[in-house]
Amino acid sequence: MPYSYIEIASFGGPEVLQLKQEKSLPEPGRGEVRVKVLAAGTGFTDTIIRDGDYPGVKEKPPFTPGYDWFGVVDKLGVGVQGLEPGQAVADMPVIGGYTQYLCADAARVIPCPQGLDPAQAVCMILPYTTAYQMLTRECQLQRGDRILVHAAAGAVGSALVELGRLLGLEVYGTASSGKHDLLRAFGAIPIDYRSEDFVARTLELSGGGVDAVFDTVGGKNWAHSYRCLRRGGKLVGFGSMQLSTGEESLPQLLWGFAKLLGLWKFIPDGKSSSFYNIQSSREKNNEAFNKDVHTLMQWLRDGKLHPVVDERVPLGQVADVHRRIASADIKGRVALICQGQDTPRGAVGE
Ligand SMILES: NC(=O)c1ccc[n+]([C@@H]2O[C@H](COP(=O)([O-])OP(=O)(O)OC[C@H]3O[C@@H](n4cnc5c(N)ncnc54)[C@H](OP(=O)(O)O)[C@@H]3O)[C@@H](O)[C@H]2O)c1
Repeated sequence: MPYSYIEIASFGGPEVLQLKQEKSLPEPGRGEVRVKVLAAGTGFTDTIIRDGDYPGVKEKPPFTPGYDWFGVVDKLGVGVQGLEPGQAVADMPVIGGYTQYLCADAARVIPCPQGLDPAQAVCMILPYTTAYQMLTRECQLQRGDRILVHAAAGAVGSALVELGRLLGLEVYGTASSGKHDLLRAFGAIPIDYRSEDFVARTLELSGGGVDAVFDTVGGKNWAHSYRCLRRGGKLVGFGSMQLSTGEESLPQLLWGFAKLLGLWKFIPDGKSSSFYNIQSSREKNNEAFNKDVHTLMQWLRDGKLHPVVDERVPLGQVADVHRRIASADIKGRVALICQGQDTPRGAVGE
């Protein structure tokens, strides 16, 4: 049976995302399962990987991008126990998710509750697990604590906002004004970082400083975010979008890292700072990763979580999704619906 997948032949812009077809399904090896992918996630990180600028990916093209996926077990390889065809599963391979079928290490895939909406379920992997681990493992927050979330209407940002509210936190979020209703709907207080001084506004709203800031904007912004903290507060950096957008240079980012991971520790102000990365967090503690994904999937099944799915699009439209990500046009996340009728016709964006 033929199946479709996305491949990049070289690093570059959205136009390098090509829809391809294989004549027959991949056969799972010993200890592997074949998965029918129902939904693949998209996000800013996928665009950095496509550009060839993501330090966590050493592979050279051609390869299939796609940080995370949700699907069902389709076939068991020899020696696989504890999984059955039809079982809902998910994983975060960092690359490889933009496909209709794949083979994965059975010991690594995460069994999920049955009956979930695939587009919502895939949000529990990269965005929600990143957010949950930063809120609960990187920080020690109590109900009633105050947090500031940057890029708060994005995929990870909206997950931080929803989970923060669920954990009983007061949440302030920076976003462009067209996305403020989304933040209000989650019970967060929006800050328009384009027209307001977010440091002054955060200090005013919090009455002197927040307990944690989650900042993926970049090195220059981390210095401003640090000023938003009260004594005892923590800044968690977890990305550098402005390096990718060209708004800051590599030396500026490296200077930001020098302060975030070193210099600020010498200031006797009671504040702390760290950098979080989901890939290294999983490598260090896969059990914790699985436990956190499991918790989030259960909460989704129980109706406690409402991930923002901006749009559900077929695999073949992924180039347009990457263009929308670059123009900050997305609220929450776009999910690729992988089972459908995609016909390869060269470059996806053509
Ligand atoms: N370390 C980790 O483990 C980890 C895990 C997942 C993702 N990430 C990183 O997290 C970042 C966000 O990923 P994502 O997929 O959530 O992105 P996304 O959904 O594409 O959201 C990004 C949003 O950020 C907003 N933004 C841009 N500049 C901003 C600024 N100066 N201040 C505040 N908001 C700004 C834009 O919305 P507006 O319209 O509001 O400007 C944009 O839509 C990326 O850098 C990604 O690589 C890191």
